[in-house]
Amino acid sequence: MYRTHTCGELRLSDAGKNVTLSGWVQRTRKMGGMTFVDLRDRYGITQLVFNEENNAELCDKANHLGREFVIQVKGTVSERSNKNKNIPTGEIEIIVNELNVLNSALTPPFTIEDNTDGGDDLRMKYRYLDLRRNAVRKNLELRHRMTMEVRRYLDSKGFLEIETPMLVGSTPEGARDFVVPSRMNPGQFYALPQSPQTLKQLLMVSGMDRYFQIVKCFRDEDLRADRQPEFTQIDCEMSFVEQEDIIETFEGMAKHLFKELRGVELNEPFQRMPWAEAMKYYGSDKPDLRFEMKFVELMDIMKGYGFSVFDNAAYIGGICAKGAAHYTRKQLDQLTEFVKRPQIGAKGMVYARVEAGGNVKSSVDKFYSQEVLQQMKAAFNAEPGDLILILSGDDAMKTRKQLCELRLEMGNQLGLRDKNKFACLWVVDFPMFEWSDEENRLMAMHHPFTHPKDEDIPLLDTDPAAVRADAYDMVVNGVEVGGGSIRIHDSQLQAKMFEILGFTPERAQEQFGFLMNAFKFGAPPHGGLAYGLDRWVSLFAGLDSIRDCIAFPKNNSGRDVMLDAPAPLEQKQLDELNLLVDIKEK
Ligand code: AMO
Repeated sequence: MYRTHTCGELRLSDAGKNVTLSGWVQRTRKMGGMTFVDLRDRYGITQLVFNEENNAELCDKANHLGREFVIQVKGTVSERSNKNKNIPTGEIEIIVNELNVLNSALTPPFTIEDNTDGGDDLRMKYRYLDLRRNAVRKNLELRHRMTMEVRRYLDSKGFLEIETPMLVGSTPEGARDFVVPSRMNPGQFYALPQSPQTLKQLLMVSGMDRYFQIVKCFRDEDLRADRQPEFTQIDCEMSFVEQEDIIETFEGMAKHLFKELRGVELNEPFQRMPWAEAMKYYGSDKPDLRFEMKFVELMDIMKGYGFSVFDNAAYIGGICAKGAAHYTRKQLDQLTEFVKRPQIGAKGMVYARVEAGGNVKSSVDKFYSQEVLQQMKAAFNAEPGDLILILSGDDAMKTRKQLCELRLEMGNQLGLRDKNKFACLWVVDFPMFEWSDEENRLMAMHHPFTHPKDEDIPLLDTDPAAVRADAYDMVVNGVEVGGGSIRIHDSQLQAKMFEILGFTPERAQEQFGFLMNAFKFGAPPHGGLAYGLDRWVSLFAGLDSIRDCIAFPKNNSGRDVMLDAPAPLEQKQLDELNLLVDIKEK
């Protein structure tokens, strides 16, 4: 037997027991005639003691143990004289009488400690060693517990877990596909699913009624902290439901997860905000509502006083940072540099401080009388000690997005984005379509299977850009943790949607004929949602990137540096697949 106990299990009440432990050598310390070894496994760390006086040979063997050696020891549990209150096993140690080295180890390329000296790339290359660290392992444990709770909740609501294929057809809408050549069908390709969207809708046509799947999805898109090319969805679909039913079911699931995994009871219904309001007041469809700092539009107040930047703007708006008038000139210059960074793209920033007596002192005082500045102050409900920051631009949507970045940055700087506080929100009434400059046509904002709001259906013919959808996202702390919609279940309405999206009837038939045909065989009204599992876990674990809750993630260039993938294929393999590689210079 390799072990009788784990390294996290023994307590003072076990004193006197003879035990066998196995694990990795975290660290060895020699103090006089004693050698102490910290033995680690997934469950914790136990201190081992070797005494030269009792057994010089055994102690010498312990002194030759290297970091990360895999060993087995037998010994007696004993009360420690020098107790360590920081770990659960800190009251005991094992007086070792037998040591077996199960495997030696090279010196690891970085220290396997909570605060490691390994940089990102190194840790990714040796991810299996990184996973030995508490911090990363804990995230995987949380992920496991979350999937268990998800299954428990959905099973209790009558959902069936059904797998859908990973080799599917490429779809033109959405992100780029990852494709897989078919050897048996020369010149033809599968695509890996961006989501099981159409398949889960077909399951509704099959009468499955309530489906879920914890499923890998693949999207060839640019990576960010909350995006991986392969990620996991908790994908769900329900029949005979309206938006309200779906919101109730999945708000219930979110509350269940908060309670079971974070011990947070959320009793109130989650706030709901129409998309248009989110854009107007927060410049984002995923506002972080842990703090207020709503946008105030200033077009009426600030235009027409000879300040050309504002006079020529299509949007002037600002935020009021409570109690931040103490910001120094240097800090304000840094904020201006922040909004001017190419990723944000503002041209500049105007600021105004509300002084102790109520006067407003701004960076554009020469254009504005105190009277106008007071009107501005009133629009923000600003008080002495507050700082007002204003952006303007010739594209209202772009300027709002810039102001959104500034708001989030101020939230960070003022400590308003506490990771242990949670603000949950449904963003509803998304527009059905958004204009794509790249494609020069309307694109589906959610996806082409989303049902328009009944009252907006007449607008499909006259003003499609104004049509709102029965689509909703769940946003927690400014992160989109899930999204879904009520679906079209009528083949004619679906055909019309494809037409508006610029598909010829032939192409729509070719790409989505399977779905439109299925709808002719008795499709129930249905709708659903998919949660992003990686985002939920990283939110609960307080991580900045979803990478740390994925066992083997990709880096920012979409590479797996450990497996060194992607990589070229051998010529033989290319030949079998009938593939010619022709890399074009960019
Ligand atoms: P959507 O594209 O909004 O909807 O995706 C649902 C949720 O999946 C997560 N997510 C991601 N997580 C990590 N990396 C990514 N690259 C990534 N992309 C998306 C987000 C998002 O809210 N089929 C629809 C769902 C539906 O309508 O039922 C869909 O895929 O948390």
